[in-house]
Amino acid sequence: MFVCLGNICRSPLAEAVLKNKVLQANLEDYIYIESSGTAAYHLGENPDPRTTSVALKHHVPISHKAQQLNTHHFITFDYILVMDDSNSENVAKIKPSNSTSAFFKLRDFDSLHKRSDVIDPWFGDEEGFEECYQTIDRCTDELLLFLINKHHLAKG
Ligand code: 4NP
Repeated sequence: MFVCLGNICRSPLAEAVLKNKVLQANLEDYIYIESSGTAAYHLGENPDPRTTSVALKHHVPISHKAQQLNTHHFITFDYILVMDDSNSENVAKIKPSNSTSAFFKLRDFDSLHKRSDVIDPWFGDEEGFEECYQTIDRCTDELLLFLINKHHLAKG
């Protein structure tokens, strides 16, 4: 489960990019991906048009309706991956104490800049969305390798 604030920019893009890689590796029976926001501002909305545009520019299909992270997700998902420190704080507020979901910042998987935030592109321009895509693309490459190794998945 990828998590950001509004679930219309960063996390639906991460969902789409990783889903595409999982499909290309024939791992869709083993890895199930969703995304959500900690806020309810955009519930039911499609991704921001700039998110869709950068995804399609890179030939990544994207289709999503914004949803809010809830306690049930901590049972359903083995991994919760947030985009920034503010998301971390918001997730910590609703995370059930008995949750066994592994928790990461997506940039923990960044081969260039570990542990920094995936910058929120919402207030910026198209360039910010392209940078966001590049960060997500890099991190999801590493994340997928991590999942393959950790769970002994064979790329088809
Ligand atoms: P996201 O970006 O968290 O990457 O989906 C945002 C989208 C909307 C808002 C903030 C961030 N907002 O304030 O409405």
